[in-house]
Amino acid sequence: AAPPRVLSGIQPTADSFHLGNYLGALRQWVSMQDTHDAFYCVVDLHAITVEHDPALLRRRTKVAVAQLLAMGLDPERATVFVQSHVPEHAELAWVLGCLTGFGEAQRMTQFKDKSSKQGTGGTSVGLFTYPVLQAADILLYSPDPTAEGGRALRVPVGEDQRQHLELTRTLAQRFNHRFGDTFVLPDAHIPEGAAKITDLQEPDAKMSKSASSPQGIIDVLEEPGPMRKKIMRAVTDTGSEVVYDEEKKAGVTNLLRIFSALEGVSVPDLESRYAGSGYGQFKKDLAQVVLDTFTPIRERTLKLLDDEERLDRVLALGAERASRVATATMETVRERVGF
Ligand code: ADP
Ligand code: NA
Repeated sequence: AAPPRVLSGIQPTADSFHLGNYLGALRQWVSMQDTHDAFYCVVDLHAITVEHDPALLRRRTKVAVAQLLAMGLDPERATVFVQSHVPEHAELAWVLGCLTGFGEAQRMTQFKDKSSKQGTGGTSVGLFTYPVLQAADILLYSPDPTAEGGRALRVPVGEDQRQHLELTRTLAQRFNHRFGDTFVLPDAHIPEGAAKITDLQEPDAKMSKSASSPQGIIDVLEEPGPMRKKIMRAVTDTGSEVVYDEEKKAGVTNLLRIFSALEGVSVPDLESRYAGSGYGQFKKDLAQVVLDTFTPIRERTLKLLDDEERLDRVLALGAERASRVATATMETVRERVGF
């Protein structure tokens, strides 16, 4: 039987992905390429919903793709592509937008958070309809719902994306109801081993490119020296025991989670390994584990960025494979809505 399909996207809005992106999402993308028919998309259309610099966007899109390949995505085993290379994303978003109630869109809580952070330029309609574009990103890769075997469509989601996936399901259902069975309803997929990582300086807040201070965030492409320093200076507490306790020891707990996820050792095993040895040795060893993970990724990324032609070939292949599915879906959609 054909493997389930998975669709996921990430924005090219920073110069580097961070440790939270890696442990919460991207590492799972790599392992899912072997168990799923995977479509992974760098979502540059989403990146222009807030003010942006064109040259920077173009550069960051390339750097994002290079990092994904450096982390182990194989363009032969997964379809890796850039959203704007497949114009059907925007076309389906228009159709779905016409099926979305204004009040329904207004209830999306992420818009409220993001729009309140927009400066003097104000908020765009694009930011408002962002969840509709996201629905299009997903449904464009829907398997045929009438085909035998009933292939699943999975979307890895964190808590913050649940509402958007719910809207996607509602829109798919609405379209199917009005125009005939066209889309499989996507399922939220909680990837195995995904870990929520917090800020190194404010361990109660999530590590985030938009909210974390430079000292609170570990960039995948960071130089080894600063990377080590940030871990050594991570906030802990006045105690000295390496013990997992989300409430009383948020800092140490976050470091334990990172250590456990990167080394594949359970938290209790780490607790007993460091029983009585204090935070210093624990952090020193963790810094080494982080460096051992990211140094090769950084080196491969830089090498890939030196070979622009190869990157372009990978993206052309990805666009071609994504387009094959997207154009077939759009052909059905266009026919059904009366174009
Ligand atoms: P950011 O919060 O830095 O802006 P995004 O919202 O672009 O990051 O998230 C991209 C992906 O990385 C999403 O799948 C998200 O769930 C995951 N992610 C982001 N930050 C973290 C974190 N601190 N811990 C775990 N996963 C995270
Ligand atoms: Na695959």
